[in-house]
Amino acid sequence: MKVRKAVIPAAGMGTRFLPATKSMPKEMLPIVDKPVLQFVIEEAVESGIEDVLVVTGRGKQAIENHFDYNPDLESFLEGAGKHDLIDQVRDIGDRVQIHYIRQKEQLGLGDAIRLARYHMGGEPFAVLLGDTIIDPPAGQKPGLQQLLEAFESTQSSVVAVHRVPMEWVSRYGVVDGAPEDGNPNLLRLRKLVEKPAVEAAPSNLAIAGRYVFTAEIFDCIDRTSRGVGGEIQLTDAMNLLAQDAPVYALAWQARRFDIGNRVEYAKCFLEYALRREDTGPKLREFLSQMLAQ
Ligand code: UTP
Repeated sequence: MKVRKAVIPAAGMGTRFLPATKSMPKEMLPIVDKPVLQFVIEEAVESGIEDVLVVTGRGKQAIENHFDYNPDLESFLEGAGKHDLIDQVRDIGDRVQIHYIRQKEQLGLGDAIRLARYHMGGEPFAVLLGDTIIDPPAGQKPGLQQLLEAFESTQSSVVAVHRVPMEWVSRYGVVDGAPEDGNPNLLRLRKLVEKPAVEAAPSNLAIAGRYVFTAEIFDCIDRTSRGVGGEIQLTDAMNLLAQDAPVYALAWQARRFDIGNRVEYAKCFLEYALRREDTGPKLREFLSQMLAQ
């Protein structure tokens, strides 16, 4: 079955990024001039997704406004002859169907995904964390597209993982699994271990913020009781799923920027700004002068 729909959870409180997130969704933080969530939706569209459900909550109206038309802004730009900017402010909202649903209480990622049940109508679907940018090496396919290809070959739920230095494993959900069918990058998942101690970690393969699920995940979320912090943890639901059905982990080369983390956000901003022709050369010059001092 082809995956046509995706859910993007973006209802979290963003407490690691206060005070910026007091009145602004962290998913709308800019990387130079484009909000993080726009990168995420572009990845979905470039991977062939036709329909996106964004899970929002209180104080997240900026998300809906960003992907909507803005007639005042557009007529202002028209008057100023800035036609290229009109195309830019309209573009992404025109390229995909975007729907919204509100999570009334921030009960965790599992709960946010559960809200997508009726929208998905029994079809397999993708999940992209709204605060995570995936950056594949030059020339490679978008992250979600790689995952969708793994889904097409396995017809099973699949989660993206990336290798992290062993001393970092205790910050992540980590995979316990074994390669199957001679592909060293596709592992059959035994279980996911949330933030293991270095000595107890089954691997250094950390969950990367992109998933494809069959509809069975919803029953598993329903069977998941509240875990750490009173939240319904997606990893707990995935462990239930792995007991009932095959679940795979795709180890990819792509880098992951979790922009809810301040250092990761700063790294992502700098890296993308350095890559761009309009900002890169001047910024590189500034940075080398600054670092030489
Ligand atoms: P995080 O756990 O990184 O987000 O969730 P958070 O809870 O906002 O972060 P902190 O720890 O308070 O800083 C990953 C993604 O899942 C969404 C978030 O918006 C983020 O995009 N999320 C998380 C929800 O939609 N609902 C939730 O209940 C929790």
